[in-house]
Amino acid sequence: MNHFGKCWKSYLDKHFSQERVEEARQSILQFLNRSDLKGLSMTDLGCGSGLFSYAAYSAGASPVYSLDYDSMAVECARSLWEREGKPGNWHVRQASILENPQTLNSPQTDLVYAWGTLQHTGDMWKAFRNSAALVRPGGLFYVAVYNKVPGIGLKSSRFWSVIKQGYSRSPFFLQEIFFWVFNFLFSLANLVRFRKSVSKRRRGMDRHIDLRAWLGAWPCEFTEAEKVIEFCQKELGFQLIRTNLTEKLANNEFLFQKASL
Ligand SMILES: C[S@@+](CC[C@H](N)C(=O)[O-])C[C@H]1O[C@@H](n2cnc3c(N)ncnc32)[C@H](O)[C@@H]1O
Repeated sequence: MNHFGKCWKSYLDKHFSQERVEEARQSILQFLNRSDLKGLSMTDLGCGSGLFSYAAYSAGASPVYSLDYDSMAVECARSLWEREGKPGNWHVRQASILENPQTLNSPQTDLVYAWGTLQHTGDMWKAFRNSAALVRPGGLFYVAVYNKVPGIGLKSSRFWSVIKQGYSRSPFFLQEIFFWVFNFLFSLANLVRFRKSVSKRRRGMDRHIDLRAWLGAWPCEFTEAEKVIEFCQKELGFQLIRTNLTEKLANNEFLFQKASL
């Protein structure tokens, strides 16, 4: 509990800057192929530190709904909301995307942003369904989920599932050892290419925080891009607009559009 929240608090305390907000904003705008988000309402599912809600809000999205099930993440997003002058068109609250959409009681929006969230819920496909229900007819669904890499080697999903489980069950001092060992390994020349593949997209994040968040991010599901596309098209009736795919152990990004009424 609060694994992510602790990472986000540390990120806001030590690394948050307007430069990083700009990087986060550009990551959203570039993938959506827009110069701003004016005229779009937005839901940020698993808002984490609140960085992307803040970035979207400052790019003109209104209203913005930031949801996360981790209480510390919600505190982090609230601190950015306060920093912005507590705007009435930005709402931050604690909720789980696994809740039934009726009890979740969040309005449909023009853009639902679920970057790196659904895979950590413990029931990714249910989370996909519930997220899709929050997209208004004709609206956009920007989702990123981990790619599944076969095998048992250092770059495989299976290997990292074992490491993540081990890390999340370990006492604090062992987690620190895990962290520094992997931090060292990732810095070695023969692993640099792999580390870059994990964090190659510039999204305003910090390398150390990303590594801590990554190691303890459990539960965690991995899936092939084709399965996401098939599920969203056939089961949810969305149309695929754009992808940014990887063959490595990193997030595949998808932009879908819901059919208009
Ligand atoms: C890897 S982080 C991604 C954070 C942010 N979207 C980003 O792009 O940096 C995953 C986030 O999803 C949140 N999360 C996990 N399960 C959730 C659930 N069932 N409902 C809402 N948020 C959830 C976690 O607390 C965490 O902040």
